[in-house]
Amino acid sequence: MDAAQLKIEAARVALTHVSDGMKLGIGTGSTAEAFVRLLAERVAGGLSVIGVPTSERTAALCRELGVPLSTLEETPELDLTIDGADEIDPELSLIKGGGGALLREKIVAAASERMIVIADRSKVVDVLGKFPLPIEVNRFGLRATEIAIRVGAAELGLSGPLTLRMTGDQPFVTDNGHFILDASFGRIPDTRALSNVLHAIPGVVEHGLFIGLASAAVIASDGGAEIIHA
Ligand code: 5RP
Repeated sequence: MDAAQLKIEAARVALTHVSDGMKLGIGTGSTAEAFVRLLAERVAGGLSVIGVPTSERTAALCRELGVPLSTLEETPELDLTIDGADEIDPELSLIKGGGGALLREKIVAAASERMIVIADRSKVVDVLGKFPLPIEVNRFGLRATEIAIRVGAAELGLSGPLTLRMTGDQPFVTDNGHFILDASFGRIPDTRALSNVLHAIPGVVEHGLFIGLASAAVIASDGGAEIIHA
C-alpha cells in the first residue's frame, strides 16, 4: 500500500468506532482528511453525527462533503476525536501541529471523552522529537518568547534551531492569529518537563506535545491496521 492508502486504511478502522448520534472532534491534516471523506460517505448513507472541526481547513472540507458541523460553544462535550499525528511514542504521547492546527486540536481533544489517533507506521517512534516540535506563540514579543524557550529548554539539556514557520516570504499565521516556532530539539526524553517549561512562558500559547490525551491509535502498515491502547 502507498502512503495515501495507509492513511485511508487507518481512517477506515477508526470509522468503525463511530456510531449513530456521536459528537465528534474532527482533526486536521491529510490523514484526518481521509477520515472526513469516509465519514461523509457514511453520513450520506444515513449516519447521524455532529462534528466539531479543529481547523478552518477541516471545516471547509466537511461543509463541501456535507458533514454536519457544530462548535465547542454549542457542543462543549464530545464523545470521540479522531485526528492524525506527526509522531507517536509507545505511551501514545504525540507531537502534533505539523499542519499548524495544534491549539484547536488540543482544545478539541481535551473536550472529548476519547481520542483515537490515525497514522501510518512511519509516525511511530521510540522517543518523540525527531519531528520538530511546533510551538504556537503570540506575535507580540516574539523575540523575547524565543529567548525564553531557548533558556527553558537548555535547563532540560535541550537545544537546537527554533525556526519561525513561513508561508512563502511571510510568517505562517494560525487560525487563531498566532505564529509557530518549530523547535528542532531532537529527542525529548522528558516530555512532561518540557511541556511544563513551555506552559510557564507567557508568550507561548500552546505546544504540540499531546500527553495523556490519546486513548488509542490505529497504526496502518502493509500488514494491516494495528490498534494500540494507551
Ligand atoms: C495538524 C496535525 C496533523 O494531524 C499532523 O500534522 C499529521 O498530518 P498528516 O496526517 O498530514 O501527516 O497535527 O496540525
